[in-house]
Amino acid sequence: MSAKNMENVVNLAKRRGFVYPSSEIYGGLGSVYDYGPLGVQMLRNIRDLWWQHFIIEKEDVIGIESQIFMHPQTWVSSGHVGGFSDPLIECKKCHNRFRADHLINDLDKNIETDGMDKKEMKAVLDKLSAKCPVCKSLSWDEIKDFNTMFKTSLGATEDNSSVLYLRPETAQGMFVLFKNILSSTRLKVPFGVAQQGKAFRNEITTGKFIFRTLEFEQMELQYFIKESDWQNQFERWRKEIEVWYTEILGLDKKKFLWKPHKKLAHYAKAAEDYTYEFSWGFDEVSGLHYRTDFDLKTHQKNSGSDMAYLDPLTGEKFIPHDIESTWGLNRNLLMLLEDAYDESDGQDGRAVGEITLHLNPKVAPVKVGVFPLVKKERLPEIAQQIVSGLTKEGIASFYDESGSIGRRYRRQDEIGTPYCITVDFDSLEDKAITIRDRDTLKQERIKIDEIGEWLKNKI
Ligand code: GAP
Repeated sequence: MSAKNMENVVNLAKRRGFVYPSSEIYGGLGSVYDYGPLGVQMLRNIRDLWWQHFIIEKEDVIGIESQIFMHPQTWVSSGHVGGFSDPLIECKKCHNRFRADHLINDLDKNIETDGMDKKEMKAVLDKLSAKCPVCKSLSWDEIKDFNTMFKTSLGATEDNSSVLYLRPETAQGMFVLFKNILSSTRLKVPFGVAQQGKAFRNEITTGKFIFRTLEFEQMELQYFIKESDWQNQFERWRKEIEVWYTEILGLDKKKFLWKPHKKLAHYAKAAEDYTYEFSWGFDEVSGLHYRTDFDLKTHQKNSGSDMAYLDPLTGEKFIPHDIESTWGLNRNLLMLLEDAYDESDGQDGRAVGEITLHLNPKVAPVKVGVFPLVKKERLPEIAQQIVSGLTKEGIASFYDESGSIGRRYRRQDEIGTPYCITVDFDSLEDKAITIRDRDTLKQERIKIDEIGEWLKNKI
């Protein structure tokens, strides 16, 4: 997909109500986006699929919901206060700030910045004669570490004792609650704890639409294990991540690549990104990290609470190690939109330039469009009855009686609706309708009282 198509996806997303720029009437707020009626439903569909697959269907994984605010000591223990930073470089002339590694890759995306320290990055920027993207000058300050955690304060005073952070990852909630979870459940190692929720990062380099935003949603799963089992479990969760993208979302495996980290985070002994081929190249949608016992051990040390697990069979007491798998919900949505976006070349039964989103029916915000052929006799009434029957069965349906049937199809194709139903004059006699498949354009006649079952097998 070309970069031009990314622009097309952004335009479609705004025009049809998937994603809006934030506070646009005031000129917008960079790297913050809002979700419209279709976007919010699509986010919910992805979230629900994930919850169903990883929590409901897995006996060894439970779900929790910890809050955005946590005791500030959490972030000291996790290492975020000391080390959650990006390499920031400032232009001495116009004072715009950039992420040094991103500046390098904007000039040459084949240079591997992972693992480079600040000095090495500065040397590469000098060698590339990197100019400021804004004022084009060559006058750079030294690269500094910029902590990307958002800070706020609790109560009326604003000093060090009142500082609170907006969580930069959901993971810590699962570590800090580990003791509570052990005592309120009868889970036996190995087991997993998962949650979905907001995270916040004061990103220096933004752009790429909803790929990198200040506020985003993560779906994370910590799988607690015995240390000796880490390689097996790392492989298991690598497969689980692949299953999500290829089997649950139905995307082509060839569009993904695993990318091992060269420079490991302070907590990790092994880490890999699962990258998808976006319009600008392969970029991270999920991560897999062997976090060892770092988090539980540090929380135990700094809180004084015992985080050990007692094996009921062997009597062995130990602090479990952790394999973390993590998904970016908003990046998943962008990936699905880019993947599904198609402009007809006129060879597929559509007119040149007509847009279709070939979304997996499971994530499509609307599952079926329902149209009366004309606004005559009982056709609108029957179509509306079909919509109300389907929505009661939990099938998101959309009634449309305006414009030609062709135009109504096009409106649904653009938002990825997999099926469209037309109620025609024959329906009055045979109590059946025509259902059209978005991708094959094939039409089938089915009985009205069989529509629900027919759709449930497909969506
Ligand atoms: N708990 C581990 C962790 O947070 P991460 O690789 O920093 O690891 C996990 O983030 C996932 O969160 C990424 O794979 C990505 O999908 C998503 N993510 C991270 N930063 C983001 C941002 N600024 N905007 C949107 N999604 C982001």
